[in-house]
Amino acid sequence: MKESAPWLDARDFAEKKGIPIIADESVRHIEGLIREHGLRNILEIGTAVGYSAIRLASVSSEIRVTTLERNPRMALKAREFISASACAERITLVETEALRWSPPAGATFDMLFIDAAKSRYKAFFDRFTPYLGPGGVVIIDNVLFRGLDETALNRRQKPLVKKIERFNRYFLAHEDFDSEILAVDDGLGIAVKKGDADGDSRENRT
Ligand SMILES: C[S@@+](CC[C@H](N)C(=O)[O-])C[C@H]1O[C@@H](n2cnc3c(N)ncnc32)[C@H](O)[C@@H]1O
Repeated sequence: MKESAPWLDARDFAEKKGIPIIADESVRHIEGLIREHGLRNILEIGTAVGYSAIRLASVSSEIRVTTLERNPRMALKAREFISASACAERITLVETEALRWSPPAGATFDMLFIDAAKSRYKAFFDRFTPYLGPGGVVIIDNVLFRGLDETALNRRQKPLVKKIERFNRYFLAHEDFDSEILAVDDGLGIAVKKGDADGDSRENRT
């Protein structure tokens, strides 16, 4: 049977052009977490051509995705795929360097999906986790990038391994989160914000 899903055109385009997108095994795992935790309001860092944004928004008609992309060509293509999808009105694409963007006043998210520059994982984590409520989930892709094996990497990629290892130690030890790394594809970092629904984690942080 021919597959028909709203994200297929974006996936085919990305594959044809060699644009990195989330692995199928990883996105299926994330879809499961969204259902299990009842996550509704998602902030994604790194849209590329909109594949994961469309796919995550397709899990349920209650889901809203805000997705940030700094590359204008990617953003343009993503807008095309998102507008053509059935979840267009539930996805907000912001063309911006993520670290220069602030959520609208009063905004909170249930899930933060970090899938952008690996060298900036800690910066993304620190900047956006204050906007997660208690029980909010952070998902970070590629935290076991190429098995964190420096010998398998080129000169440009090698320094990344140290940064990713440092970030992994940081978020696994973070006292505000219950964290783990799953050996799914290139590694999925999962961090669930501690606290009960009555706590206000953002106001409580200094
Ligand atoms: C791996 S791709 C995202 C793939 C997408 N999440 C998917 O699975 O369909 C990473 C994207 O993040 C963008 N990016 C990297 N660093 C960024 C930053 N600091 N702010 C905004 N976008 C960034 C890149 O331009 C690239 O398009």
